[in-house]
Amino acid sequence: MINVGVLGATGAVGQRFVQLLAEHPWFNLRTLTASDRSAGKLYRDVVNWRLDVPFPENLGDIRISPTTVESLKDVDLIFSALPADIAYDVELACANAGIGVCSNASSHRMGPDIPLVIPEVNPDHLGLIDVQRDSGRDGFIVTNPNCSTIVLMLSLAPLRKFIFSDVRVATMQAISGAGFQGVPAMGIFDNIIPYIGSEEEKMETESLKIMGTLDGKSVRMAPFRVSASCHRVPVIDGHTMAVWTDIREPVDEVKKAFRDYNPPISDLPTQPAKSVQYLDEQDRPQPRLDRMRGNGMTVSVGRVREGIRYVTMGHNTIRGAAGASVMNAELIYTRKYL
Ligand SMILES: NC(=O)c1ccc[n+]([C@@H]2O[C@H](COP(=O)([O-])OP(=O)(O)OC[C@H]3O[C@@H](n4cnc5c(N)ncnc54)[C@H](OP(=O)(O)O)[C@@H]3O)[C@@H](O)[C@H]2O)c1
Repeated sequence: MINVGVLGATGAVGQRFVQLLAEHPWFNLRTLTASDRSAGKLYRDVVNWRLDVPFPENLGDIRISPTTVESLKDVDLIFSALPADIAYDVELACANAGIGVCSNASSHRMGPDIPLVIPEVNPDHLGLIDVQRDSGRDGFIVTNPNCSTIVLMLSLAPLRKFIFSDVRVATMQAISGAGFQGVPAMGIFDNIIPYIGSEEEKMETESLKIMGTLDGKSVRMAPFRVSASCHRVPVIDGHTMAVWTDIREPVDEVKKAFRDYNPPISDLPTQPAKSVQYLDEQDRPQPRLDRMRGNGMTVSVGRVREGIRYVTMGHNTIRGAAGASVMNAELIYTRKYL
C-alpha cells in the first residue's frame, strides 16, 4: 500500500477525495490537511460533511494537519484540493521534497513539464514526469483538468478519429463547482449566472494541451480551436454542456463511435466499465438521472444531431475533480512512477 494524504480535505473536492480513498485497494489514507482554521482538530469535528454518501467513520479520528511539507513526512503521494493561489507553492515544495503530487488546482496545469492528464485521453503525457526528474525533482506534479474541460474532452475522445478544427461549447455548471463558499443561495436560486471567472479560458487552453502531442520534452498543442461560454445553473452536482463541432460525418457514424468507444487503458480501480455512455433517449443526459453512472466516473452523451452537435454531462466533483485525480494516481502507480 502507498501512504497518501489529502490537502484541503474539508472542502467540496477534498471530501470527495476522502470518500474515494477511504476503502481504496492501493492507497492508504493517513494524513489530512486544511487551513489553520481547521488544523489541530479531529476531521469528524471540523468537516461539514455534505456528500450524498455516509461519513467514513474509520477516518473521523484523523487530526487535521497544517498544510506544510513537514506535515507530509509520512506519505509518498498527496492529492491536492487546495485553492489555486495556495496550491502553487505547497505543491512545488512537496514535489521537490520527493512526494508525488496529484493536483486538482489550476496553478501548475499549463507548466511545460507538467502532465495535464485524463487517463483515457492522453496517458502517454505522464512521460513528462521523466522531464521533471531529469531536472532534479525527486517527486513529481501531475494535474487533472478543470471540471468542465474533463467532460468535454472525454466526450470528444471517441470522435478523435474524425477531422475537426472548431469546437464550440455552452456549459450549464453545477453550484458544487464553486466550492462550499462559492455561490450564495440568494444569487443562484431561481437564476442563471452567465459568468464563471477564468472558466472559459481554461476550457479553451487546457483542451489543446490534453489533445496535444508529447514531443520530446514538451507537448505540441492540438491544432483545433475551442470557444466556450460558461454558465452557473441551480443544479447541485453535474456539469451539462451543449457542444457544436465542424465534424461532417453522418450522425449514425458518430453515434456508432460513441457506442463502440474503447479507451486505451483498462483495469484501474476507479475506472468505470464505460468511460463514455451514449444515451439514445431524446431528453438525456440529465444531471439528476445520469451523474452517478459508473459511480460518478462515466461521462454521458446524447442528442447527437447533424453539425455535429450533441449534449454531454459528467459529475464535476467526482469525474471532474477527485475521481480524475485518483484515477491519474492509479495510472501513475501502474507505470511504476511510485
Ligand atoms: N468543486 C469542483 O467541482 C472543482 C472541480 C475541479 C477543480 N477544483 C479545484 O479544486 C480546488 C478545491 O476546490 P473546492 O471546490 O473543494 O474548494 P473549497 O470547498 O472552498 O475547499 C477549499 C479547501 O482548501 C482549504 N484551504 C483554504 N484556504 C487554505 C489555506 N490558506 N491553507 C490551507 N488550506 C486552505 C480549506 O480548508 P478550511 O476548511 O480549513 O478552510 C478547504 O479544505 C480548487 O483549486 C478548485 O479550483 C474544484
